[in-house]
Amino acid sequence: MRTHDDVVVGAGLAGMRAAIAAHEAGADVALVTKVHPVRSHSGAAQGGINAALGNQTEDSPDNHTFDTVKGADYIGDQDAIEILCEMAPKEIIQLEHWGAVFSRQESTGKIAQRPFGGAGFPRTCYAADLTGLVILHTLYTVCVKYDIPTYEEHFVTRLVPDSHGGCAGVVSYDMVHGTVETIGAKAVVLATGGAGRVYRPSTNSHSSTGDGMGLALEMGVPLKDMEFMQFHPTTMKGSGVLVTEGARGEGGYLLNSEGERFMSKYAPNKLELASRDVVSRSEATEILEGRGVDDCVLLDLRHLGRDRILERLPQIRELAMQFSGVDPIDDPIPIRPGAHYHMGGVHVDSWGAAPHMPGLFAAGECACVSVHGANRLGGNSLLEAVVFGARTGDAAARYATDIFNGSGIKASPAAATDYEAELKALLDRTDGPRQHEFRDKLADTMQEQVGVFRTGEQLREAKNVVDDLRERYSTVTCEDKGRTFNQSLIHTIETGWLLDLADCMVTGALDRTESRGAHSRTDFPERDDENWMKHTLSYMDDGQVRLDYSEVSVTKYEPQVRSY
Ligand code: FUM
Repeated sequence: MRTHDDVVVGAGLAGMRAAIAAHEAGADVALVTKVHPVRSHSGAAQGGINAALGNQTEDSPDNHTFDTVKGADYIGDQDAIEILCEMAPKEIIQLEHWGAVFSRQESTGKIAQRPFGGAGFPRTCYAADLTGLVILHTLYTVCVKYDIPTYEEHFVTRLVPDSHGGCAGVVSYDMVHGTVETIGAKAVVLATGGAGRVYRPSTNSHSSTGDGMGLALEMGVPLKDMEFMQFHPTTMKGSGVLVTEGARGEGGYLLNSEGERFMSKYAPNKLELASRDVVSRSEATEILEGRGVDDCVLLDLRHLGRDRILERLPQIRELAMQFSGVDPIDDPIPIRPGAHYHMGGVHVDSWGAAPHMPGLFAAGECACVSVHGANRLGGNSLLEAVVFGARTGDAAARYATDIFNGSGIKASPAAATDYEAELKALLDRTDGPRQHEFRDKLADTMQEQVGVFRTGEQLREAKNVVDDLRERYSTVTCEDKGRTFNQSLIHTIETGWLLDLADCMVTGALDRTESRGAHSRTDFPERDDENWMKHTLSYMDDGQVRLDYSEVSVTKYEPQVRSY
């Protein structure tokens, strides 16, 4: 059995940043990832990463904190948000020193910062519209430099508990060789990204299937605030491909079928740069009230001019031409809200530790610290990935060295043997529905019933569908019976997690009888601080979702009416 002090599952921004921090803290850390690190979904992040550098205008971590608390609709934990915003400038400088090529201000040569939604100051550092990709490659070079062992194309299928309920490693399916093995560890960090594939369309890659959340939930670890799914205001019809908020940060307008800049009705001060939940609801309202253009509204960049589009938004131009058949230099891009980011995730503290399973940690989108509350600000996800990735990697290393106290690794190689039997049972099954039928039905249901707006009736309908799918999932069959690169098998296992996560999302949304941030119930249109200023915790008990609640940390900012 192979063993390491720390195993990090997932090699996107949060995972690699965690591994680097753990390595620097002296741990023997390994990355285990189902895709090659530079294929991770973090590479799809376009517009930028926030830090109050104050390069463009005066700014401060306090301003950043306030904007984030307000953006979160007051349900983010303010102590964690303060950490995020205080540590941001240092992390950006660190990334720059490691070689991240941020775009620069021509006049001063300093890192350029563009305005983003819900931010009081231009605070978003960027590398044109390829920011996630640039940081991903930067972190990968550091992992290579440190020679961090990386199990590529290894799909983690189970966490391994020790006899005291601690986390002692993972079971992993090696796609290349078709084998299953236990990798023992003193601490495990989950950094597997979000679960955007619960929806269709989605800005998320096909690999964003909530694996880490599913793994934790199976072990009795609660997920937090799962009802809060962010719909990004500018995604392309059909494909769901993202058009960065940076396009509006650079000055893009949103227009309805009457050629009106409709955001002036909904957010007279911030217009297109209101927070994402506000802009998405405004677009959805325009479309629902008949002022859309073929189920979309229009993002107009023409006035920015060819040179600026080519310099700041080159990828957006290419994507618009490829996926919408529109050159934004000449024509507006049809766009609409699309599932983008999960504010919810594995319930962890501000060191990334899951309180319910000693030795288990989580970071990035798969975790809920919670710094995004009910609505994340654009540019804060890459930031969360690096800030809390670093803290979590550091904490996992300390756990392995100090707290674990030198005792041996407690994982049993038998964990893999047990899993092998489960796998065999799945592969031996012949008559039954295939995973794509479950996935399609789930994604369509979530899209239709658990969208930008939702009602109790829609949520009950969604719950019935999810219950039915979960029940029938025990009969799922996998047509490919091979062992190497069995994508059908991987998708089947991922689908099981997507169904469990959808149940948590729908159950939490049904219970939360208020509207807050991205959770907008038309049957309960007001925010209700008296009853709902709390986090939702979802547990899986005997196959049923059970909800509980926990307090929100408020340090400086009492809830206020939120307008932009
Ligand atoms: O719009 C974007 O570029 C996405 C950024 C984010 O989700 O933070």
